[in-house]
Amino acid sequence: MKICVVGTGYVGLVGAAIFSDWGNRIIGVDIDVEKIERIKGGEMPIFEPGLSEIVLKNIKNGNLSFTTSLSEGMSDAEIVFICVGTPESDTGHADLSAIWKVSQEIGQNLGDYKVVVVKSTVPVGTNEKIKRIIKENLRIQTEFDVVSNPEFLREGYSVEDMMDPDRTVIGSDSERALSVMRRLYEHLGKPIVECDFRSAEMIKYASNAFLATKISFINEMGQLCERADANVNVVAKGMGLDNRIGPRFLNAGIGYGGSCFPKDVEALYKTSTDQAYDFKLIRGVMEVNSMQKDHFVSKITRYFGKNLSGKTFAILGLAFKQNTDDIRESVAIKVAKLLRGFGANLRVYDPEAMYNAKKELGDAGITYCLDKYEAIEGSDSLVILTEWPEFASLDLGRIKGMLKTSTIFDGRNLLDSEKVESLGFVYFCVGKRTNGLELLDKRPTGHPGVILKNGR
Ligand SMILES: NC(=O)c1ccc[n+]([C@@H]2O[C@H](COP(=O)([O-])OP(=O)(O)OC[C@H]3O[C@@H](n4cnc5c(N)ncnc54)[C@H](O)[C@@H]3O)[C@@H](O)[C@H]2O)c1
Repeated sequence: MKICVVGTGYVGLVGAAIFSDWGNRIIGVDIDVEKIERIKGGEMPIFEPGLSEIVLKNIKNGNLSFTTSLSEGMSDAEIVFICVGTPESDTGHADLSAIWKVSQEIGQNLGDYKVVVVKSTVPVGTNEKIKRIIKENLRIQTEFDVVSNPEFLREGYSVEDMMDPDRTVIGSDSERALSVMRRLYEHLGKPIVECDFRSAEMIKYASNAFLATKISFINEMGQLCERADANVNVVAKGMGLDNRIGPRFLNAGIGYGGSCFPKDVEALYKTSTDQAYDFKLIRGVMEVNSMQKDHFVSKITRYFGKNLSGKTFAILGLAFKQNTDDIRESVAIKVAKLLRGFGANLRVYDPEAMYNAKKELGDAGITYCLDKYEAIEGSDSLVILTEWPEFASLDLGRIKGMLKTSTIFDGRNLLDSEKVESLGFVYFCVGKRTNGLELLDKRPTGHPGVILKNGR
């Protein structure tokens, strides 16, 4: 099949690569001239395991090419995918300006029947509006159809997720368009959910909001476990073995971030208020999430006091999660900024996100290090903020002698608390009463770094 993919970011570039690997002819389109030049030159603008090999292979065999011209990209295509960004706007709604712009252009350039597929995450009602906009902008009376095909890939695993999705959702009001989409996806042998536009749009938001709810739920359980002297990791394991619950998205930590969960949960809440419905659970999920990083940072300021000037923290992890260079809405970046706000100097390291983090955090008070041990050497304390596997295997004996104080604040529960404590570290994690919390509670009231028992 001949396919045009508009927007070559995390979703569009991976989509274009995988569709071409299935034997289709793909043209990727983006308004970002530099990005297109880099991809054409074989350089990936994003870090995604396995992506580069697939892109290079299919550029070479002629299945995959790129352009900045939408009219050129879509002229021969049977399907046009819209994969542009839908970031959060000032009001909390999804900013759909790129979607409207692309829809107008598609309308203006339509010369024969095409299926326009919306892969971007868009609120309920958007596909109907896209259809209207394309129709209003037609220069030649042409038939076309619209399909809502939300994407569920996880950054860091996007190649495997697109190759082997749990399900594919295709929402449309046209049997002709649905049959084109079946041809594209049926070979995967995975469930295909065929439905109306609005349900398809809602499935995407409901899925992300439900996963975010799991995260906020376990984070609140962690708050309770710290107070009630239970261990949230064990609680999560015991819960997750129940088939009805499942183990995933039950890792207590510093909260969810990234380019999707925060904006999609917020946008779903806006959709509900626009429908005069107060989605109370989602409101709670967002509130818990925004407080989670503050709880974590308060452990640091309760231990060291609120004036952190003259202190240096080794920060391991800046990406919003492991396996990606993406720092959009990264809680690690937010924690780094909070620590800087208390006057701390930072020695930071992330395996993939250093370039993006530097653009966001700047140079003042921050040393960008080449590896985890360089960040730790000479720092007062270690703070772990992203769950990269290489941080779980830190040589604890080695770092003991590198840190000025033997303190570790583990925002992702990566380390084995018993082992860490037995080596003489003061250890803080999330959802467990470690020796660090015990120590804080024993401090007299009025100590510069003390807050009353139970964090109140
Ligand atoms: N990143 C994810 O993990 C993920 C997962 C599922 C769904 N989504 C959704 O997919 C959509 C895209 O997300 P992303 O992370 O790939 O975004 P992104 O910001 O990485 O990429 C968007 C691309 O669209 C391009 N673009 C913007 N306007 C354009 C225009 N008029 N013409 C051509 N190109 C244009 C941008 O230059 C950019 O390269 C969003 O709606 C997002 O919510 C993202």
